[in-house]
Amino acid sequence: MAFGAPRFPFSGAALATGEGEGVALGVGGSLGFGVGVSLGSGVGDFIVGDRVFGATPLDRLGAYTQILAVSALIVGHAPMSIPLATAAAVPIAALTAWQALFLPDHADVQPGQIVLIHDGAGGTGSFAVQFARWRGAHVIATASGHNAAFVRSLGAHAVVDYRTARFEDVVGEVDAVIDLVGGNVQARSMPLIRKGGALASIVSLPDQELAARHGVRATFMIQNRNRRMLELIGQLIDNDNDEWHRLQKRHDVGTFFR
Ligand SMILES: NC(=O)c1ccc[n+]([C@@H]2O[C@H](COP(=O)([O-])OP(=O)(O)OC[C@H]3O[C@@H](n4cnc5c(N)ncnc54)[C@H](OP(=O)(O)O)[C@@H]3O)[C@@H](O)[C@H]2O)c1
Repeated sequence: MAFGAPRFPFSGAALATGEGEGVALGVGGSLGFGVGVSLGSGVGDFIVGDRVFGATPLDRLGAYTQILAVSALIVGHAPMSIPLATAAAVPIAALTAWQALFLPDHADVQPGQIVLIHDGAGGTGSFAVQFARWRGAHVIATASGHNAAFVRSLGAHAVVDYRTARFEDVVGEVDAVIDLVGGNVQARSMPLIRKGGALASIVSLPDQELAARHGVRATFMIQNRNRRMLELIGQLIDNDNDEWHRLQKRHDVGTFFR
């Protein structure tokens, strides 16, 4: 197995079978895409030459290299309608957004709920806004003023310019907060959440005493790689929406991909 000077992103992925059978190349980087160049036995869903995308596990990064062996369980078929280099930006952002919003242990956002997404314009936030709207939530996002139109175009019902307004002065009670910023933004969000509501942070561990004082559940999460979810996100990007329409009607959206 060869790899040269660190280069982003990798252009070849060798698909191995199952966790533990891949080879870790410790040069950092966790976003990746490529074309399958070899397959481990039992990797039935891919053929050599498939365009793939994924994110390598935190304990086995290595996506700066040219050839990388990864588990087929964490790689999906890349969407065909966008360049592979663009597809490489999708897995971590989209998986993180989905999991923070819908996993029952985290924000557990349900149709009709009001969700405040801090940082609606960033990589993760731009997926979070779209997923929350798709689920039927009322979406409020914070972003810089120059990004407001963009964030609205993603589906946000309201956008608060965090540079010119204090969000707590203009946002009322919410069911859930998706914290993609951390720090005092996280702490200032707690009083806005209704009792029994939730805050899911992907940035820092929430202060549990503060959360208890406000009667909210506050969690920190690191996203999991999930092949099935990646495949579906790829389909969505390709405008192949049938599976998404079916999923939208399900009650178990938060656990569907487990
Ligand atoms: N736990 C995990 O699994 C996980 C996964 C992915 C990322 N992360 C972490 O999540 C954070 C976000 O990552 P990302 O890649 O999605 O971000 P990103 O694409 O770099 O976007 C950052 C955005 O934050 C916005 N921002 C800065 N301060 C803000 C504030 N006070 N209120 C609202 N928005 C603010 C800026 O928006 P404007 O341009 O509109 O000002 C900027 O676009 C990073 O800390 C990253 O390390 C964690």
